[in-house]
Amino acid sequence: MKLIVTESYEQSCLKAAEMIGDVIRQNPKAKLGLATGSTPEPIYKNLVKMYEQGGLDFSQVSTVNLDEYWGIDPEHPQSYRYFMNHHLFDHVNIRKEATFVATGKGTPEQAADELEEKVFENGAPAIQLLGIGANGHIAFNEAGPSLRAKSHVETLTESTIQANSRFFDSPEQVPTQAITMGMGDILAAGSIVLVATGASKKEAVQGLLLDDVITTENPSTFLKLHPNTTVIIDRELAQLAGV
Ligand code: GLP
Repeated sequence: MKLIVTESYEQSCLKAAEMIGDVIRQNPKAKLGLATGSTPEPIYKNLVKMYEQGGLDFSQVSTVNLDEYWGIDPEHPQSYRYFMNHHLFDHVNIRKEATFVATGKGTPEQAADELEEKVFENGAPAIQLLGIGANGHIAFNEAGPSLRAKSHVETLTESTIQANSRFFDSPEQVPTQAITMGMGDILAAGSIVLVATGASKKEAVQGLLLDDVITTENPSTFLKLHPNTTVIIDRELAQLAGV
C-alpha cells in the first residue's frame, strides 16, 4: 500500500483528481468507480475544473458508484445519484447513460444484483475512489463479525446513521438500508485511491496504516490485500494518527 501525506486536505483532493485524470488520459474509455460523502466533493470540483480547462474528456468514460441508500428517490437531494449529478455529471461531457448509481427499482436484492452486474460489465473499474467511515467502513460495508464479497443490501449501523444524519433534518430521516458494492467488488478495481481527512477518521486510518492486520471490525484493512492501493491523507491527520 502506498501512502501519500500532503500539506492539506485541498492538496489531497487535487492529488486524487490528478490520479483519476491520468487514468482517463491513458484510456479515454476508462471505467471509473466513484464514491460519495463529503470527502470527495473537492475531488469532483477539481475534475470539473480540468474538464473546463480542456484537459479532460469524459465523452467515452463510464462510471459505477459504490453505493446508494435504499428507499430514497434519485431526485432526493441526499440520494447519491443526486450528489453525483450535482457534483460531477452535470458539469462534464459524460454521457449520463454511461453512469450507474444503484436504483430503487424492484426489491433491494434485485437492486444489489443489478449493481453487481454493473461493476463487472465490460470489466471492473480501472480506478476506484474511496472515502472511509469513522468505523473504517468503505462504501457501506459496515464493521462487524463478517463482510460480504458481492454487492448486497446492508443495514446501516447506528454510528453511520448518526454520522450521516448531518445531511438530513434528523437521524430518523436517514435511510436504514443501503445497496453497496461488496469487498470483492472494490478489490477487483485496477487501482484504488482512498482519501481521508479529519480527526474523526483517526482510528480508522490507524487500523489501515499502522500494521498489517486485516479485520472485519475495520473493513478498510482489507485494502491491504490489493496490490495497487494509494492512501492520501493530510499532515494534520497523519500526525494525529501517528503515521
Ligand atoms: C458514507 C459513504 C462512504 C463514505 C463515508 C464517509 O457512509 N457510504 O462511501 O466514505 O460516508 O463519508 P465522509 O467523507 O462524508 O466522511
